[in-house]
Amino acid sequence: MELKICLIGKGNVGTCFLKLLKERISFIKEMYNCDCKVAAIFEYDGALINKDGIDLEELLAKNTNFRENKFWKKEVKATDLISELDLDLCIETTPTEPKTGEPALTHIIEALSNNIDVISANKAPFFLHYERIKNLADKMNCFVKYEATVASCVPVLSIKRNLIGNRITRIEAILNGTNNYILSRMATEGITFAVALKEAQELGYAEADPSLDVDGFDAAGKLVILANELLNWSKSIEDVKIEGITKITPEALELAKSDGYTIKHLAIAEENDLIVGPRLVKMDSPLNISGILNLIKLQTKYAGSIILMGRGAGGFEAASAILNDLITIVKERNKVNVN
Ligand code: HSE
Repeated sequence: MELKICLIGKGNVGTCFLKLLKERISFIKEMYNCDCKVAAIFEYDGALINKDGIDLEELLAKNTNFRENKFWKKEVKATDLISELDLDLCIETTPTEPKTGEPALTHIIEALSNNIDVISANKAPFFLHYERIKNLADKMNCFVKYEATVASCVPVLSIKRNLIGNRITRIEAILNGTNNYILSRMATEGITFAVALKEAQELGYAEADPSLDVDGFDAAGKLVILANELLNWSKSIEDVKIEGITKITPEALELAKSDGYTIKHLAIAEENDLIVGPRLVKMDSPLNISGILNLIKLQTKYAGSIILMGRGAGGFEAASAILNDLITIVKERNKVNVN
């Protein structure tokens, strides 16, 4: 089988994905008998388009400017060309406005409407318009995958397949690395919120607008996706009770510590509620993780709790989740073809 891919957005995540694909392309061919071809890479000001497949070695060679590639076309737009390139899979990694989900939402809708499978690293379309996207994918008989949207490389959405004989009843998670970093640094070093936030920004994990992190919106969006996926809910971000971490002081953390607690920014889905906010957590709790890590504790009906933990952000981390989604789609499409 051949898989004609289009990548929309060649920023950090998009570029890491291309590098990872280049490394794994022969493995995918050998294991799954699938020829992956990147037929188009869209940026805000144009696109590289080659229906026979862009040469990834050449594209990713050091000191090359992809806008100087002979297949570069200025000012063409993904929305105009998605339907014309005979694509099988669209990968969405554009910088997207979190309050509207654009431009990722339009790209996703356009791809699915043209019967093209979708993988998204952008979360906003899913916490804003989950039902709409899922219904369209079902109607078009297409796959839509978005593992990278929650906790990046941590396989917390695809875990559902492996828990099919069980039932997830509650979710308690740390879903924002920036906030966890800030609270950990304040707790261990006694530094102020402002200093810890600056450090987190320098590490490159905070959103371009860090209020999305510290006010809880980013964690709330991820919680919506998790709950819809793992608990089969149909919620949107408006359903989340959100509180950020801006009011937490080093003194509050010190007081908590004297009683054997610390403060964590938790995202909780329980009964019918979605809650994001600071909570006291026992010092020896598995939730007391430090740094930019994410942690997801799934309460299950038949086997107690299951905990997943790992890096919740980063280019290659997200790219590895995208590649997992890609291989999952290839395996599913192979099954369809055999049957
Ligand atoms: N700003 C986010 C975080 C990045 O700190 O977790 C990953 O979504």
